[in-house]
Amino acid sequence: MAKQKKPSLNLAEAASAIMDPVGGIELDTDGLRHRGTRSAMAEQKTILLVISGGIAAYKALDLVRRLRERGFAVKAVMTKAAEAFVTPLSVGAITGGRVHTDLLSREDEADIGHIRLARGADLVVIAPATADLLARMAGGHADDLATAVLLATNAPVLAAPAMNPAMWAHPATRRNVAQLAKDGVRFVGRNAGERAESGEAGPGRMAEPLEIVAAVEAILSPAARPLSGRHVVVTSGPTHEPIDPVRYIANRSSGKQGHAIAAAAAAAGARVTLVSGPVSVPDPAGVTVVHVETAREMLAAVAAALPADVAIMAAAVADWRAAEEQASKIKKQPSGAVPPLALVENPDILATVGPDPARRPALGVGFAAETANLLKNAETKLAAKGADWILANDVSPATGVMGGDDNTIHLVSRAGVEDWPTMTKQAVAERLVARIAATLAER
Ligand code: C5P
Repeated sequence: MAKQKKPSLNLAEAASAIMDPVGGIELDTDGLRHRGTRSAMAEQKTILLVISGGIAAYKALDLVRRLRERGFAVKAVMTKAAEAFVTPLSVGAITGGRVHTDLLSREDEADIGHIRLARGADLVVIAPATADLLARMAGGHADDLATAVLLATNAPVLAAPAMNPAMWAHPATRRNVAQLAKDGVRFVGRNAGERAESGEAGPGRMAEPLEIVAAVEAILSPAARPLSGRHVVVTSGPTHEPIDPVRYIANRSSGKQGHAIAAAAAAAGARVTLVSGPVSVPDPAGVTVVHVETAREMLAAVAAALPADVAIMAAAVADWRAAEEQASKIKKQPSGAVPPLALVENPDILATVGPDPARRPALGVGFAAETANLLKNAETKLAAKGADWILANDVSPATGVMGGDDNTIHLVSRAGVEDWPTMTKQAVAERLVARIAATLAER
């Protein structure tokens, strides 16, 4: 029986024909002309986009447009709250099809059904993913079309969180995000920066549409993905160890090397959990990032992220912390007396996961950042920390490695020492990931 189409769909289709680059209209966005540049990889892949109710929902329109420019088919599901921010009509105009909103709609169920909607996608993208939707997903709810689809899908799920920084920082959200990451959900962003609703700064802003597209392409790329199905945990950056509310002990680590490794592992198909200390480099796309400050928080985040196939500990963890963190700012004394600063040793994260056979990843990789006796110290660490490889690098100020873009690595294993030429941190990351993939494949 011929199905009667709603007038709004005709309008949507008409609008989409105008906007469809494949239909012959050239779009010139982000300075690039995409006509005829649809990547073969995007051919026939269907993205199911779940839009939940946040101010960032307006960016979903741009996201759809950019996905379609790259040749993806996009179907959209909207939550009730999302409809307060963008209309199904405008989303449908850009996807070029019907927008699904109701779980219990006879029309929706007769037409496609939520199970088929869930199963027909190559990837489910949630953008924006609100705190509420993440909480309902983490709890396995299925009380509206969006959550029912998310529960029923067997496609990979990529979430782009967007919420107020306080909501993002709340322990409930932290728990939900950690749970979803364990369940295999991938995350892109949340970014630091000014937020739309109130000029409020802080983490919580949704990743930009092009970052989401990059994460989508990384997940769906049919290119060789030697770490696909593997879970890789990476630590990166320094730790900050508080002395009092305004002072802390830190080091000069930029996080560039660790973040590049996380990005390279994700590009190789791994599910990546990056546990990052305070850094100014952006979160890599397609990676679940857990932000921490102290060594103890880093240890807890790594323990929560395990089990993993590979652990790469690139963080420059502070060896010591103040024995006692003062509740208020330490004041200068009129006498000129200097306050005592007693230190205690921090837990060693690599040494904690390394030797324990129950928790140990198949491959444990550490770094040795040294300013003297590089190889000797690296060999000592290899044994002491139960690592498989130590990547030794000279971080003397003259080398410019700390904070710089290049690195010179010596891979120390029980088999001996392998000297790598000086290369960019990104090239180091790619070489390390290729090496890891080859080693895991041999086992
Ligand atoms: O600081 P150190 O030179 O001992 O670091 C060697 C390796 O051990 C690095 O991979 C570093 O990330 C890791 N490490 C750690 N936890 C610490 C100290 C170092 O995981 N508390």
